[in-house]
Amino acid sequence: MFDRIRILALGILVAATLPAAFATADPAPTLGDYIVLVNNDLGMHCMNQNHQNLSILPPYNDLQAQVIRRGDATRLPQLVTSGVSLEYSFPGNTYSVGKTDFWTYAPALFGVTLAPNVGLTGRSLSGTFDLVGNIYRADGIPLTPFMDATPTVEQPYQVAQVIARDGGGIELTRAHPVAPVSVQVTCVSTGCHSSENAILNAHSNEGGFNPANRPVLCAHCHGQTPLTGPNPGTAGWFSLRIHEKHSFIDQSIPGIAGCYKCHPGAQAACSRGTMSTDHGLICQDCHGNMEHVKSTIEAGRIPWVNEPACRTCHTAQYGEPVGQLYRNSVGHGGVLCSNCHNSPHADFPSREPRDNQVMVDLQGHAGVLSDCRVCHGVNPTGAGPHGIMAASAVEGEIFTAAGRLRVFPSPAQIGAGCRIMAASARAQEGRMLVFDVRGRTVRLLKAADDGDGSAVASWDGRDQQGRDVPSGVYFLKWDDGREQAAGKVVIVQ
Ligand code: HEC
Ligand code: HEC
Ligand code: HEC
Ligand code: HEC
Ligand code: HEC
Ligand code: HEC
Repeated sequence: MFDRIRILALGILVAATLPAAFATADPAPTLGDYIVLVNNDLGMHCMNQNHQNLSILPPYNDLQAQVIRRGDATRLPQLVTSGVSLEYSFPGNTYSVGKTDFWTYAPALFGVTLAPNVGLTGRSLSGTFDLVGNIYRADGIPLTPFMDATPTVEQPYQVAQVIARDGGGIELTRAHPVAPVSVQVTCVSTGCHSSENAILNAHSNEGGFNPANRPVLCAHCHGQTPLTGPNPGTAGWFSLRIHEKHSFIDQSIPGIAGCYKCHPGAQAACSRGTMSTDHGLICQDCHGNMEHVKSTIEAGRIPWVNEPACRTCHTAQYGEPVGQLYRNSVGHGGVLCSNCHNSPHADFPSREPRDNQVMVDLQGHAGVLSDCRVCHGVNPTGAGPHGIMAASAVEGEIFTAAGRLRVFPSPAQIGAGCRIMAASARAQEGRMLVFDVRGRTVRLLKAADDGDGSAVASWDGRDQQGRDVPSGVYFLKWDDGREQAAGKVVIVQ
């Protein structure tokens, strides 16, 4: 991230794309006393549009939220779990009946008669959240990817409006998170199967399967955790059966395109987070291929319950507790990982501006929630998420020194480096230290006496091991036992 420094016209202006916590010059938007953080649990929910013949998944979306009373100079931020109510709605997407035939077939599929636009958990397209533990949840919203104005055009990144109110009904704050949903569960339209009839007719007649018994709910016999709970069913896990039957795709369409044949999809491209978009990760990097998805279930993996973890590829400092799903995990201050990083598959900054809007609204730019002031109101002096210090705290610590260092040139290039001068008669006794914006020590330099009361050091933009440092701002501190001085330098590649 630090290497994205661009030198603008004439080399005078330097625009550094630093993580927000460090870009203290860029003030957060004006926020009130409360904020609400909302995410979608999965990063994508699939549903069938047509349920007449067969049904894999119903319309069923989830939002999870936390309300934070912002801190100030004397008070830490607080997670609020009483005295507020949270409501959701989808402006411009207010009904689902007719956009899908689910309500016609719900009695046959699930044995329930649902009122129009009411989903399997009794929720509608607008309503209030429930407090479950200390998380506000709205599970089972029967949302479709079709706006009222364009009911035949799929828009998989639907935007919710979430409003927090106090006991008197006064609005405290609002947010506009994405509730992703797609009907691109496309056995037929991707050109693989000729028709749903053909799929049903090809199914073996074992276990009481009768292709004439429509609509067929696959979960009736094959366990699907979201519908059946963690239970393989009478005919084996659906995930096992479906990935096993189609594992030839590992050879015929390797890579993400194979997964996108069934998981939404070539158009929705649901894996849209920074790890996919900017770092090139594909489904297989985290989940393995079809064969692996299948064989791990045979070896005891429970579909939807045992999924990849951040800690497999990142250090423990950046991981969830062992055995706990990312979507259920909390980090710094009890905040859900996904409230700072977003849902799986949509990790900030996402390819979709709609995903990023929640962070733009809070901290003025897309990316991981890193601006401490969003929750704290001020820049705290202690360490924050994963032990990160606010840049201003590091700067504050270093600039308590009375003196100022003269640094030339800044920006300085790796290799050519810069000269750093301190007013000091004790060059030999002194120590010139270089810190990065997170407060980590990067380099210890010796200074020479230049003969007229100054100590002079030069820094080549390399760390203690001789490696080039990333571009960015570095803090400098001089201490000779009597005089202390501070400065900073911008390093560019
Ligand atoms: C009435 C019960 C029942 C329903 C409903 C059902 N299946 Fe099956 N399915 C079975 C049985 C039984 C098997 C065979 C299990 C075995 O081989 O041990 C099976 C096997 C499969 C296999 C593996 C076949 C193979 O050749 O490897 C697939 C794929 C499959 N089902 C898909 C589906 C899909 C898709 C649906 C929903 C449209 C569905 N099933 C609905 C009972 C059912
Ligand atoms: C950077 C790693 C990563 C990539 C890339 C990735 N996933 Fe995931 N996936 C995860 C993690 C982590 C979870 C578990 C999330 C949790 O704990 O809630 C998950 C969960 C899932 C689930 C279970 C439902 C859910 O969301 O919990 C499905 C289905 C899934 N991924 C499919 C895919 C497909 C298909 C692709 C490619 C189009 C993909 N994933 C790409 C990391 C990844
Ligand atoms: C032939 C269609 C198809 C293809 C191709 C496909 N999937 Fe799936 N996948 C499904 C279906 C259907 C489900 C839903 C199963 C359920 O509800 O339990 C699913 C569920 C999953 C899950 C969640 C359940 C679990 O086992 O944890 C993961 C993870 C997953 N797929 C990964 C992948 C990856 C990775 C690829 C590409 C290598 C892929 N899938 C390709 C149809 C497919
Ligand atoms: C399959 C391995 C893998 C898994 C699983 C994984 N990551 Fe990553 N992640 C990476 C790689 C590789 C990078 C890129 C590192 C780089 O280029 O410096 C990365 C980068 C990141 C970044 C930094 C992005 C940036 O631009 O600075 C964040 C944040 C991140 N991952 C969060 C997560 C979270 C949250 C999870 C769990 C939901 C997770 N990762 C799971 C491999 C993984
Ligand atoms: C209060 C906000 C916040 C919370 C909560 C949070 N993180 Fe982070 N996370 C950050 C910030 C900010 C960074 C960027 C740190 C950096 O660049 O060093 C980060 C970085 C990461 C990275 C990338 C590390 C790398 O190698 O670059 C991973 C992975 C990660 N977090 C996982 C998690 C997990 C898992 C949780 C929950 C257990 C979590 N985070 C909770 C703010 C948060
Ligand atoms: C998403 C909201 C959020 C963000 C962003 C955030 N914090 Fe916090 N922070 C909290 C909450 C909530 C607490 C817990 C207060 C409590 O324990 O009562 C907390 C507690 C703290 C504490 C008190 C010690 C502790 O760990 O309990 C420090 C220090 C701190 N945060 C520093 C930071 C710094 C530095 C940053 C920015 C790099 C930051 N925080 C970003 C929400 C946040």
